[in-house]
Amino acid sequence: HAVNTEKEKQRVGEQATALIENDMLIGLGTGSTVYYFLRKLGEKVREGLQVMGVATSRQTQTLAESFGIPLVDFNAVNELDLTVDGADEANYQLQAIKGGGGALLSEKLVASRSKRVVWIMDATKLVRQLGNVALPVEVIPFGYAHTMGLLQKEGWEPVLRQDKGSIYTTDHGHYILDVPMNGIHDPHALSVWLHLLPGVVEHGLFLDFADTMYVADGDQVVVMHS
Ligand code: A5P
Repeated sequence: HAVNTEKEKQRVGEQATALIENDMLIGLGTGSTVYYFLRKLGEKVREGLQVMGVATSRQTQTLAESFGIPLVDFNAVNELDLTVDGADEANYQLQAIKGGGGALLSEKLVASRSKRVVWIMDATKLVRQLGNVALPVEVIPFGYAHTMGLLQKEGWEPVLRQDKGSIYTTDHGHYILDVPMNGIHDPHALSVWLHLLPGVVEHGLFLDFADTMYVADGDQVVVMHS
């Protein structure tokens, strides 16, 4: 099935480039599905399509540069026309958990400055209720143990994300706590509660962002609207 999933990511990533028109300012998401979007977009740019992109991670910046997609500083632009990003899990209300790749903070900032947000994914990520995957919570390194403790006090079991034996650090120099969820009953309440926790910079619940999802299932791409 892993091979199929890769084909689905490619199909949906490439198909999303059909949304891109001349002179668009595009938010470029992060991840293995977005990789295919960027690769195809690079081809179109070489064929003459004129766009500017805002990268949501160093990884995406490097890929976009290697594919010849012109980039612009996020702070130098106003509204973006469209952001295309992946998700770790999404429901039928077009709410998602993101941040498996660690880029949630920039992804949320860029999405919130975009007229339109489109998520691309394979069908394994579509769920009725969010919370099969752990929820990434980005925290300030100073006092991260305290923030973990505050979560534990409420019964959560946060896991400090590791990378090859060291603590994983985001592009912004923060840590990530992956919090197993076991089903999220009230995503909005959880979102607000997490934002009020000392030390929390951002979390991976993206609740009112996406207009459209492209979900690849076998040879089909299902388009869902909010
Ligand atoms: C990055 O922080 C994440 O939000 C990614 O967008 C998400 O993990 C999707 O990545 P894949 O397409 O690699 O699954």
